[in-house]
Amino acid sequence: MNTTPSRVEHQLTDKGYVPVYTTAVVEQPWSSYTESDHAVWATLFKRQREILVGRASDEFLRTQEAMGMTPDRIPRFDDLNAMLRRATGWELVGVEGLLPELTFFDHLANRRFPVTWWIRKPEQLDYLSEPDLFHDLFGHVPLLMNPVFADYVAAYGRGGVKAHAIGPEALVNLTRLYWYTVEFGLIRQPEGLRIYGSGIVSSKGESIHCLESPAPNRIGFDLERIMRTRYRIDTFQKTYFVIDSYEQLMEATSPDFTPLYARLAQLDSIPAGQVLPTDTVFNRGTGEGWLSDGDV
Ligand code: PHE
Ligand code: FE
Repeated sequence: MNTTPSRVEHQLTDKGYVPVYTTAVVEQPWSSYTESDHAVWATLFKRQREILVGRASDEFLRTQEAMGMTPDRIPRFDDLNAMLRRATGWELVGVEGLLPELTFFDHLANRRFPVTWWIRKPEQLDYLSEPDLFHDLFGHVPLLMNPVFADYVAAYGRGGVKAHAIGPEALVNLTRLYWYTVEFGLIRQPEGLRIYGSGIVSSKGESIHCLESPAPNRIGFDLERIMRTRYRIDTFQKTYFVIDSYEQLMEATSPDFTPLYARLAQLDSIPAGQVLPTDTVFNRGTGEGWLSDGDV
């Protein structure tokens, strides 16, 4: 999950060749998927569903089933959209890859979730540095069926448009929130910690690591703390933040962030693996296997 778009074209201008992001919404070219594409979907789908029973949040497993995704075929966005629109007013739009920030925020604010239309190759089952169809569809889309989470992501989009106007530092703060909730969040259920973050549910290794490894910190959700915390884009996370409920997420993020951004601008960022005296610690990580540099 790097931050540069995947399929960038270049255009000659008076500044030389500059990248042109492919921001257009594209129709899902469903009939162009090969048997190998469908097989990659099937393999990943079955493998993750098996791992995620007892590990992913009940809500994630339930909404994913309700959507009728199956291993048989790569789902058609049109079929999922009929259901999503009815449930929460969201729809999926096909894209080539990562979008410029403002375009991405605008989609979310309008309840359009950009989904990369292409799927990884068979030799990339375990790791890919950019989002593909499996990550976006399997990972992100199910919880958009949940009304509270669906509202949270739309509110995040509106917040992104606002942060973009405030400046790059505000955007850094907001991006950390997305990273530690939507992408890598854990939730507390009566039976124990469960996964709801898309970056985790679409990864075999991290689905196990985030719950079972003694290495990472598992810390209670704290908005300001998260917005100061750096993260990893090239290894498993050093810290996961745990929410009690999707309602908690919604309530904590509903105030206007403008004064918060101003306050955070005065404070240092926190290294990805650091534990603070003020943290609610579920697990203090051993730090085993951590690289000492590379937090972004
Ligand atoms: N309340 C935030 C703001 O005023 C927007 C936001 C909502 C951000 C939900 C993230 C999640 O900027
Ligand atoms: Fe993602």
